[in-house]
Amino acid sequence: MASIVPLKSLILEAPPSCIEFSALFPDVFVVGTYVLEQTPGHSADATLENSTPQTRHGELVYFRLSGDNITEIHKADTNGAVLDLHFRPIKREEPKDRLCVATSTGVLELHDLAASGPQNDRPRKFRVASSDTLVLSLVWHPNRSDVVAVTLSTGQVRLCQLTYGPISEDIPDIIWQVDLITHGLEAWTVVFGVDGKCVFSGGDDGTLRCHSLPDEPDTTAYSASMDQDFLGGDECTRWVDRKAHTAGVTAILPLLRGVIITGSYDDKIRIVSSKQFRRQILAELNLGGGVWRLKYIEGSQSSGVAADHADMRVVVLASCMHAGARIVEIRKQRDDWSIDVLARFEEHQSMNYGSDIQPSKEDGERNIISTSFYDKLLCLWRWKDDSSKD
Ligand SMILES: *[C@@H]1O[C@H](CO)[C@@H](O)[C@H](O)[C@H]1NC(C)=O
Ligand SMILES: *[C@@H]1O[C@H](CO)[C@@H](O)[C@H](O)[C@H]1NC(C)=O
Repeated sequence: MASIVPLKSLILEAPPSCIEFSALFPDVFVVGTYVLEQTPGHSADATLENSTPQTRHGELVYFRLSGDNITEIHKADTNGAVLDLHFRPIKREEPKDRLCVATSTGVLELHDLAASGPQNDRPRKFRVASSDTLVLSLVWHPNRSDVVAVTLSTGQVRLCQLTYGPISEDIPDIIWQVDLITHGLEAWTVVFGVDGKCVFSGGDDGTLRCHSLPDEPDTTAYSASMDQDFLGGDECTRWVDRKAHTAGVTAILPLLRGVIITGSYDDKIRIVSSKQFRRQILAELNLGGGVWRLKYIEGSQSSGVAADHADMRVVVLASCMHAGARIVEIRKQRDDWSIDVLARFEEHQSMNYGSDIQPSKEDGERNIISTSFYDKLLCLWRWKDDSSKD
C-alpha cells in the first residue's frame, strides 16, 4: 500500500494541536494552535504531552475549503493554548454551529459559527479547573446540548453543565460539575458510551476506566447529593482496567454497546470489550506511532450500532503522532474482529496530533485535512473507499 500524496499543503503560523470540520457548514474547518512560550531556564519541550506549568498561548484559525483551495477566513484569540475542540453534535433550530474549545488555562470556551462566518467577538467562557490546569480534552454529551465531559492534566474526568447566562467580561463559574473519575496521572481522553449512559476515560497511567451515569441526566441528578447517592451507589457501574494497554490511553471511540475502540501511546489501536465482567481485547494492531486521536469516517455510531450480533464494518481516521495519519478498517464477522490499515499519509515530518474528514453525504472521494505540530504543516489529501464491497 502506497502512501497518499497531498493535494495542497500550507504552513501555519503556530503549531496545530487539533482540528474539526463543522457538520452544519462542511466547507469550514477550525484549527486550534498551541504555543509554549520560551522561558529562561525551561527547556522548550513544547509537546502537547508536557503539562508542567509554563506560559502557553494559542488561537482558533478558521479556514474555508473550496475545491483544492484552502482559504483562511478568521482568527480568534483564546484564553491560553488550545488542546481540543469539538462542534456540538446536537443541532438546534438556530442556524448556528457551536464550538467548544478546551484551553491550557482551565477554561472552556464556546464560539459560534453562522452561515455568514465565525461570530467570535464575545465567546462564552467557563472555568472548569484552576488556571494552572490544562483541559486536555472534551466531549459533548450525545443527548444534552449543555453538558460536556472534560479531562484534566491533574487526572480528573469532570462532567460540567454550561449554561448560557448573560455575557460577562469575567469568566463565570459553571452551574455544576462533578468529578466522575480520577486517573493517577494526566487524564487524556473521555467519551460517552453509545447510549449516553456511561463514560469511558483513558489516562497516562495506562488505565481505561468506566463510570455509569443516571438514566435521565438532569441538573439535580448530577448535583452534589447525587454524587453521593448515585455516583458512588450500588447501581453505579465503575471499573478500572490496568491490563489492556501497556502505555497511556490517549483516544477512545464508542463502537457498540459494550465495545469501544482505543488508541494508546503503545502505538496500538484496539477493539476492547467493555462489558463489566468480560473485558478483553477483541483485536489489536500496531500503527507505528502513538494513536493520539480517532475519528469516524464511515459506519459511525448512528449507522453502525444496528445490533450487537450483526456483522459490521467501520472506517476510522487515526492521528498517529510521529507515524502520520492512517485510515483504518474495523470489521466484525460473527464473533471475529479484524483491523486493517487501508491507507497511510506520511508527509508529516513531526507529530500528527490533529486530522479530520470533511463531512459528506455522498460516496466517493473524501477530503481529509491533517496537521503536524513542530513543522506547522497542514495538508489536504483525498481518499476513496474501494474496499467496502466484498
Ligand atoms: C481556486 O482558486 C483559483 C485561483 O484563485 C480559482 O481560479 C478557482 O476558481 C478556485 N476554485 C474553487 C473551487 O474555489
Ligand atoms: C440518548 O439518545 C439515544 C438516541 O437518541 C437514546 O438511545 C439514549 O437512550 C439516550 N440516552 C440518554 C441517557 O438519554
